[in-house]
Amino acid sequence: MTQDISQDKKKVVLSGIRATGNLHLGNYYGALNKFVRMQDDYDCRFFIADLHALTTHPDPAMLHSNVKSILAEYLAAGLDPEKNILYVQSDVPEISEMYLLMNMHAGIGELMRTASFKDKARKALGIAPKSGEDEEEIEKEICGNQTNKSVNAGLLTYPTLMAVDILIHHADFVPVGKDQEQHLELTRRFGRRFNSFYKTDYFHEPVNFNFGSHAVKVPGLDGSGKMGKSEGNCIYLIDDEKTLRKKVMRAVTDQGPQQPNSTPTEPIQNLFTLMELVSEPSTLQHFKQAYADCSIRYGDLKKQLAEDILKVTLPIRERILDLRDNDEYLSKVVRRGAEQAREVAAKTLREVREIMGIRKF
Ligand code: TYM
Repeated sequence: MTQDISQDKKKVVLSGIRATGNLHLGNYYGALNKFVRMQDDYDCRFFIADLHALTTHPDPAMLHSNVKSILAEYLAAGLDPEKNILYVQSDVPEISEMYLLMNMHAGIGELMRTASFKDKARKALGIAPKSGEDEEEIEKEICGNQTNKSVNAGLLTYPTLMAVDILIHHADFVPVGKDQEQHLELTRRFGRRFNSFYKTDYFHEPVNFNFGSHAVKVPGLDGSGKMGKSEGNCIYLIDDEKTLRKKVMRAVTDQGPQQPNSTPTEPIQNLFTLMELVSEPSTLQHFKQAYADCSIRYGDLKKQLAEDILKVTLPIRERILDLRDNDEYLSKVVRRGAEQAREVAAKTLREVREIMGIRKF
């Protein structure tokens, strides 16, 4: 799918981040940094997904402070409330109603086959991921398991709610990291299904946005897989200098290249990937060359990596600390954002109800 950059009427951009804790480098490079870079050229709406966070049962005492800290992080990273609509998902009740309506067209089978559902369901049920994944087997285990009360229906219908977040704005672009692309594919499918069922062309198809490059998957510091809150392998935007340096210096490595020009192992490639995001190209090139000729010292690589990450995160951290206790300002931002988002959402909901045949007496 191509990314149309024509500016006649500004394209609509919509994205959000779940309210489950502080933002890490994965959130930053997969999403937030793209939001900031898009705000001048597009009609942008960014939100905090607190309803999605409920699928994993956060401590009620923590939910609001998580919402607040993400809002502070949005603003600290450079999102300007004058240029974007910034809102909290639960402040827009139209989303919840449209979620109910869209669920009438979401199949249980397709929802159960979603990778994120299977991951979370497996975790909740304590089922180990299988190699050569046999989907039916996994589904049978999830369905047949006597303890399946811990896999709630909200988790299953998570993609419907995400599709509604996007479709309610008729978004063109949805800047997200690689892990969200399957959800985006389902969004397009639900939109197409709605159109074909009601014989309309009401929804169009939103696409990811990556400034012409591929969606990123930011790796963690533990040698394998992506950076993620539940993996405990994160560098947070709010990390102080000492904590951050310690984390990077402890990153998993290997025993060093055994012969010239060998392919880096996964832990080392992950450090190179992080370096590609935060360092000058010449710095990355220097360490890649040192790896190729076996002169690399991982201590030096990590020191440089920590230095370059800090250049990105420390100024943001300072602004977060300034902003996060400024309740008056934060609530002003989201109250205004909610009004603007509700106006858009109410119009879509009205039209969707109409298309589905819900009429007032
Ligand atoms: P969430 O909160 O898990 O992640 C927020 C954003 O950060 C990206 N991300 C990453 N990107 C690259 N590498 C990583 N290691 C990494 N970890 C996280 C995610 O891809 C995402 O863009 N379902 C969404 C929230 C959501 C949403 C929406 C997004 C709800 N409704 C509508 C867009 C549009 C989620 O859980 O993201």
